[in-house]
Amino acid sequence: MQERRLFENLSVPEVGLGCWQLGADWGDIDESQAFKILERAYRKGVRLFDTAAVYGEGRSERLIGQFKEKYPDLTVITKSRSWIDPKDKDGAKKLCKDVENSLKNLRVDALDLLQLHCLPPDVLNLDEVWETLRCLKREGKIERFGASVETIDEGHFCIKKKSVESLQIIFNCMRQDAAHGLLHYAKHKKVGIIVRLPLASGLLAGKMKKSTIFSENDHRNYNKDGDAFNVGETLSGLTLNDGTELVDELKHLISREEPLAQLAMRWILDHEEISVVIPGASRVSQVSSNVKSADLPPLSKEVHEQLFKWYIKSVRPKVRGLI
Ligand SMILES: NC(=O)c1ccc[n+]([C@@H]2O[C@H](COP(=O)([O-])OP(=O)(O)OC[C@H]3O[C@@H](n4cnc5c(N)ncnc54)[C@H](OP(=O)(O)O)[C@@H]3O)[C@@H](O)[C@H]2O)c1
Repeated sequence: MQERRLFENLSVPEVGLGCWQLGADWGDIDESQAFKILERAYRKGVRLFDTAAVYGEGRSERLIGQFKEKYPDLTVITKSRSWIDPKDKDGAKKLCKDVENSLKNLRVDALDLLQLHCLPPDVLNLDEVWETLRCLKREGKIERFGASVETIDEGHFCIKKKSVESLQIIFNCMRQDAAHGLLHYAKHKKVGIIVRLPLASGLLAGKMKKSTIFSENDHRNYNKDGDAFNVGETLSGLTLNDGTELVDELKHLISREEPLAQLAMRWILDHEEISVVIPGASRVSQVSSNVKSADLPPLSKEVHEQLFKWYIKSVRPKVRGLI
């Protein structure tokens, strides 16, 4: 797989793996299945794995930690979201505690990357947050730090902070805003861009129906209207009803024979400012399919233009939550 620059001193294969699925919130994925997904990703050339302290209360990190003992050359990026109240006097302590737990779970002496995990804007505003990260870096507990954000404005804000090395954003053909300023700015500031939700929680694989029912412990069920966390995350902020109708339109607009999931990934990879895309997977076959997108020819300029017009007119007005 082609590599892209993520950090000053690190390039990674352009398709990584999102490991939220190995923790919780996506139905039941048992340990044996989780290891099969990790193995397949590694065998297909994936070297970057995204996780978080909260995914299954450390389960995702622990599985990856065990896996990394076998394959020490992989890069694992994790996140912390304990500091969510700007008035919390123990915020810094909680952030440091998360790092200690992640070090233990991942079985390493230093984290490759720590990302702030969609912290509210009034927490991102605290200088102490960023100073704590710099201090953790000086102490050698984290190699680098960055932020995962919900909105374009938060992205611009975080990129400006001293020593930030990466930004994780929602970016797919149903969430195109970053292509019109943020990606360019990140490149200018030499900040690596990590793309999450490339398939809009699976919607862009084109297999969902209006009648699809998700299991009780799947966020596409219990967060479908933003009851548990940001409404803009699940299905990229679309209702299942709107999302499936829009996917039918998309199939006609792209009109190529490869699977829609691969074409949706290709749309993202066609943006050269992207460092790495991190699709999640609940099945081994999905991992292989997603990696294949790296070998596809780009979508034509005409298709990109058409998809942008369609996004502005038909998709963007239906996205719930702040973009
Ligand atoms: N706040 C944050 O920082 C944040 C938030 C969300 C995600 N993330 C990270 O980003 C990663 C990716 O985002 P995501 O997992 O939410 O969304 P995603 O990658 O857009 O969707 C993943 C889901 O799509 C389906 N899928 C994947 N590949 C497929 C294929 N080839 N064909 C058919 N279906 C396929 C699978 O679900 P089914 O098989 O069940 O349909 C899979 O669980 C996460 O794993 C996590 O590491 C971070």
